[in-house]
Amino acid sequence: MTSKPANQATSRAEPITDGLALESPKGESALVVEHLTKRFGERVAFDDVSFEVGYGEVFGFLGPNGAGKTTTVRTLGTLLEPTSGSATVAGIELCPENGPAIRSRISIMPESPGLYLRLTVLENLECFAGLYELNNVRWRIERALRAVNLEDRANDQCGSLSKGLRQRVALARALLNDPSVLFLDEPTSGLDPVASREVHGLIASLRERGVTIFLTTHRLEEAERLCHRVAILNTTLRLIGRPDELRDQLFSRSLDVRIRMPLEEPNAVLRGLPGVEGWRQTPSGYTLAVTDPEIAAPQVARALVGAGAEILSIAESRHSLEDVYLELIDEDVEARRR
Ligand SMILES: Nc1ncnc2c1ncn2[C@@H]1O[C@H](COP(=O)(O)OP(=O)(O)OP(=O)(O)O)[C@@H](O)[C@H]1O
Ligand SMILES: [Mg+2]
Repeated sequence: MTSKPANQATSRAEPITDGLALESPKGESALVVEHLTKRFGERVAFDDVSFEVGYGEVFGFLGPNGAGKTTTVRTLGTLLEPTSGSATVAGIELCPENGPAIRSRISIMPESPGLYLRLTVLENLECFAGLYELNNVRWRIERALRAVNLEDRANDQCGSLSKGLRQRVALARALLNDPSVLFLDEPTSGLDPVASREVHGLIASLRERGVTIFLTTHRLEEAERLCHRVAILNTTLRLIGRPDELRDQLFSRSLDVRIRMPLEEPNAVLRGLPGVEGWRQTPSGYTLAVTDPEIAAPQVARALVGAGAEILSIAESRHSLEDVYLELIDEDVEARRR
């Protein structure tokens, strides 16, 4: 399933001044993935996956354990060769010869930070900057530490840092090379709510600066909060779009009406009201299927008052991204394969 980045133009942030993101080439996509498939022998990690990600977009990649998220990141990050299909990463065609060029333009923050625990934060970053063969190392490190609010911990040994702080060091490392596309593989996995919120804040500030981010996550509220668009993967791509679009695609809109006493003849009151397509009783009132809640709600209120009902509340039912996800992912791929 392919979809154009619907909000590409509006979501692109202003060019930034401190150089944490490259300016986006006009009209180009940061990622173009076409019919990409990866198999390990008989096992299909992901199959026939197609999508585009615009520059400046934060793109969420959701799916259950074993859905193929990490394998997709590793494939687009040139660490694995796809079995079939094609992709363009940061404007460069994905093929073995282009591996070094792609790697110089992207960063991957893997699920486990992979730092040298006996080295300090600064020594770790110096070490990785050396491995990446970067210039202006001191300046890059200072800027990356500033971006993750870790300047005052630069001389601490990584082994002495909490999980959340190590995650931040890993994020600083991923920022060293000014990536055109930043892949974050479950950046808040295993973090407590406070540490997760800090990482969310950092991702949100990168989003503000126009950094293109490909974010895999199990945390649906994280995706809902941070991502312009999300894709739901379950070996194949099931759905792609803005969270609110996905809700509208999967669920009809409805109003929850709470009243003090049930109506004596609900059919006579509710049937045929403009914008109301159907109704069902709930313990505290009625749920009405409606075409447009803004048109239906006043009509419903008037009809209920006319019938002598005491209205406690009328509210539009909100489906979360979690509802969308659970509707689509009804079984764990990993469990099915075992
Ligand atoms: N190197 C490998 N060799 C063989 N099979 C692999 C390899 N890497 C991944 N797989 C398989 O590919 C499938 C997708 O794995 P992947 O790690 O991409 O899932 P995921 O969506 O990242 O899961 P999780 O949410 O648990 O991180 C799984 O069935 C996994 O066992
Ligand atoms: Mg994974």
